[in-house]
Amino acid sequence: MKFFLDTANIAEIEKAVSWGILDGVTTNPSLMAKAGASNFKEHLKRICDLVEGPVSGEVIGLTPEEMHAQALELASISPYMVIKLPMTVAGLQVCKRLNAENIPVNMTLIFSSAQALLAAKAGASYVSPFIGRLDDISHFGSELIREIITIFDRYGFETQCLAASLRHPLHVVEAALAGAHVATLPWGVLEKLIHHPLTDIGIERFLEDWKKVRPEGW
Ligand code: G3P
Repeated sequence: MKFFLDTANIAEIEKAVSWGILDGVTTNPSLMAKAGASNFKEHLKRICDLVEGPVSGEVIGLTPEEMHAQALELASISPYMVIKLPMTVAGLQVCKRLNAENIPVNMTLIFSSAQALLAAKAGASYVSPFIGRLDDISHFGSELIREIITIFDRYGFETQCLAASLRHPLHVVEAALAGAHVATLPWGVLEKLIHHPLTDIGIERFLEDWKKVRPEGW
């Protein structure tokens, strides 16, 4: 399972890169604004250079023409760029066109397996089901991942299921159990994955016992 970081914050990306477990990054207009990215092209280039893996940048146009022009601009930033398109008719049309131009697409704001199937047919490299936002309205987000994986496997689609809107560690585990190819995590969730109180207690006990036989240290 690949781990992407769902952020545009450079410090968070640097930390995750240093941990050696980061495969890519996803951004969206809200995350870019939060990171204070006034020059969005330079900011995305910096992220691509740091990550050296897929980095999703989102178009904000609503017509196919606007979306396509913005997609080409984003794609020119780095070969690592993946174009995030919303799941709309225009998004699908542009996805098909970018696919023919060998530019990878991440179809975002996916809330049903029917939408994911359409995105895969249009040649998307990734579909992003928003798990937390489905849970918010009392739908099982992880069930959607299971449906998407079943459909993609059955028809041999190469599109990867990128679980997004993950709010806590159990969302990550649910996404992994449901077979998501990628999980994109906010920094806070990634940080929480590593900790367990029994690990801390275990280390403390080992150190205490070790001191009994080697009080002078290692
Ligand atoms: O990757 C999508 C994510 O940024 C949305 O998360 O928590 O706003 O639903 P959230």
